[in-house]
Amino acid sequence: MDDFRPTIFILTVFIHLLLLLPTPIAHDYSDALSKSILFFEGQRSGRLPKEQRMGWRGNSALNDGINLKTDLVGGYYDAGDNVKFHFPMAYTATMLAWSSVDFGSYMSGDDLGYNILALKWATDYLLKTVSQLPNRIFVQVGEAQADHDCWERPEDMDTPRTAFALDAPDPASDLAGEIAAALAAASIAFKQSDPIYSKILLDKAVETFQYADLHRGSYTDTPSVNQAVCPFYCSVNGYKDELLWGAAWLRRATGDDYYLKYLVNNRQPFGADYDIDEFGWDNKFGGVHVLVAKEVFEKNVTALGAYKDNAERMMCSYFPETAGPHMTYTPGGLLYKPGSSQLQNTAALSFLLLTYADYLSKSSQQLNCGNLNYEPDSLRRIVKQQVEYVLGDNPMKLSYMVGYGDQYPRQIHHRGASIPSVNVHPQAFGCIKGWDIFASPNPDPNILVGAVIGGPDVDDKFIAKRTNASDTEPTTYINAPFVGLFAYFKSNPNFS
Ligand SMILES: *[C@@H]1O[C@H](CO)[C@@H](O)[C@H](O)[C@H]1NC(C)=O
Ligand SMILES: *[C@@H]1O[C@H](CO)[C@@H](O)[C@H](O)[C@H]1NC(C)=O
Repeated sequence: MDDFRPTIFILTVFIHLLLLLPTPIAHDYSDALSKSILFFEGQRSGRLPKEQRMGWRGNSALNDGINLKTDLVGGYYDAGDNVKFHFPMAYTATMLAWSSVDFGSYMSGDDLGYNILALKWATDYLLKTVSQLPNRIFVQVGEAQADHDCWERPEDMDTPRTAFALDAPDPASDLAGEIAAALAAASIAFKQSDPIYSKILLDKAVETFQYADLHRGSYTDTPSVNQAVCPFYCSVNGYKDELLWGAAWLRRATGDDYYLKYLVNNRQPFGADYDIDEFGWDNKFGGVHVLVAKEVFEKNVTALGAYKDNAERMMCSYFPETAGPHMTYTPGGLLYKPGSSQLQNTAALSFLLLTYADYLSKSSQQLNCGNLNYEPDSLRRIVKQQVEYVLGDNPMKLSYMVGYGDQYPRQIHHRGASIPSVNVHPQAFGCIKGWDIFASPNPDPNILVGAVIGGPDVDDKFIAKRTNASDTEPTTYINAPFVGLFAYFKSNPNFS
């Protein structure tokens, strides 16, 4: 080959590659972000405000709390049913607040405003759940079994709206710890825009944490509550993670050394060093390590160094080439944990990765994993892969966010979305008739725009039917971390 001209050869190869490989379509993160926040309007319980944009929803559950002579109107339905479970609702609020606090700078004014409204819908309600402290804390409204036996829109509900409560000294360290975390995190989110509300949230967070710490144990230790909550939202991994989580958010919100000492003294006895790579509505340890690491990065508080070490070990586990235990990915590249509603894991684990990357960047540091070092962008690349997967770059070629693009599931496991709206069909369908709609092959009449649903299984397979709850049910705690993730990539659209 005497006439070999390398430049032309390389050019030719390059052009061939361009023709062969599908050009990846850049995702519209701005659209994904605003939709991920809009979703929360579809989950609203109570009296809807006139600014309500999700127009197919109506008022619902306007007498909640009446059996305990209190006002428990408002808040969010957790998923595709009509129960208000306060434990995952509080975690949702914490994650909306964290999205706002650490990723708000990446949002436009509109998105930030709507995110704050979505958060306030939760915190206004959470304040009601702790309005009778120090004696009583409200746990849940609605009877899960009776609710799940019906396929009814929230606007038609005729199932018992029983409210459940715990009275001192019934333990509630997990529930109250998470509510304290939510209120403390939200107090930071509201500090600029509404200092009076911020102060109310913070005072209540302190008081709620006192209940959590004083009455130690799980909220499901009390049989009546256990019956109401389990098997849906029992705190399977125990309550000690929520005590540290509540303390960590209170430390960040107040700077008070009481919480610093609490974190230092209880890390080992609470088992935090042995539980480093989990994060979700049940297990908060991963979140505790990352959140506390921020203070170590910023102020070199050596007393908290062990939390940062744990966070670092967790971060190293996302990289398959490092030594030690590893996160699991599906063949298609999705972060995966055993269990149902996969994308809840993807959302929470990606959130920690992106947050930690931010803390590294701001302190000009790298992630150290033995003899391997990673720039913050290496962490972000894993996160980018996750959000791209969720928005459609996956083996099923589907967006797992409802209403994003034009390839998304048309049937989701969500009562309100699947039954015609009260605007077009004011008469109630009733408990049983709804099951015909549930089983029908028809697409949902109402689009729950922005809902990120449970998503695919370990093999990237997905069944786009509302009968498959694990795959097609949306939940508030899947969406909340995604708000922060989409905000980052909206601001950095060309990140690669
Ligand atoms: C952090 O503090 C420790 C001991 O107080 C000190 O040895 C170390 O150099 C400090 N690190 C930085 C980055 O300032
Ligand atoms: C839901 O779909 C997944 C595949 O994504 C499958 O593994 C699971 O068995 C299905 N569950 C039901 C109840 O159909």
